[in-house]
Amino acid sequence: MSESDCATLGSLELQSCREESAPGQKWYKPIICINTKTNGEKRLFKTYRYRQGPLGQYFRLLASHEYRMLTRVSGLAFTPQGVERDATCSSTISYRYVDGAPIKEQFRKGDIPDRFFFRLYQAVSELHEKGIAHLDVGNSGNIVVSPEGNPVLIDFGSSMLLKRLPVITRAWARKRDLLGVLKLWRRYDDETMPDILRQYYERYYRKNIYTPKRFFKACKRYWLSDGEEMSELGAVAGIFFMLWFLITIV
Ligand SMILES: Nc1ncnc2c1ncn2[C@@H]1O[C@H](COP(=O)(O)OP(=O)(O)O)[C@@H](O)[C@H]1O
Ligand SMILES: [Mg+2]
Repeated sequence: MSESDCATLGSLELQSCREESAPGQKWYKPIICINTKTNGEKRLFKTYRYRQGPLGQYFRLLASHEYRMLTRVSGLAFTPQGVERDATCSSTISYRYVDGAPIKEQFRKGDIPDRFFFRLYQAVSELHEKGIAHLDVGNSGNIVVSPEGNPVLIDFGSSMLLKRLPVITRAWARKRDLLGVLKLWRRYDDETMPDILRQYYERYYRKNIYTPKRFFKACKRYWLSDGEEMSELGAVAGIFFMLWFLITIV
């Protein structure tokens, strides 16, 4: 089978997949689908829509990066297991489905497992000890609550090997992950958050405004507020326009 067969979901397993992606999803988001094998094993497939041309090449690189990171972490208790990638469908990765609910749903039901965020904090620290930064922990879609009430980290698409990062950014990457945990902790289970961690969060957490949408939202907030965000805006404005220039002109 060739990559173009994958484009028509030619793979048997993908054909019989139950698609989970929300309707109207953005073009660059992967399709998530779940398939139950004849032996009863439930697997999750994550596949990108574009497989041809430069975009196809880009998404293949994304998938292969996530696959490599997942294979590195798959021995840990809080990560997806049984990671696979078919060489002929390189923009598709699959792993064993993690039973449970995404953190948002679980907490909407008011069903907060005991010490959940302590365990999530420990899990992220363990990940760092293994030399990996997740870099998207603060996104509540990336944390699944297992039926036993344990956290499972998914979506290693943005994760990085700490040793590959420039030395000065390693501490920043670890801090970003831990602030991600604290952001969710504060949002979903504020009462159990130790004061020292709350103070740390309040001191260091900054909303990410390095994407165009968020940047313009921050501008709007600034114009409508008393100017508190000016220093933050001033600092990122230069970086934003430089990145924008690099992406669009160069
Ligand atoms: N192994 C898994 N078990 C259960 N649900 C999952 C699993 N992997 C992904 N999901 C669900 O699919 C959604 C998107 O997956 P994710 O890998 O985060 O993709 P994206 O790159 O689009 O953020 C998650 O928010 C989660 O609800
Ligand atoms: Mg995600």
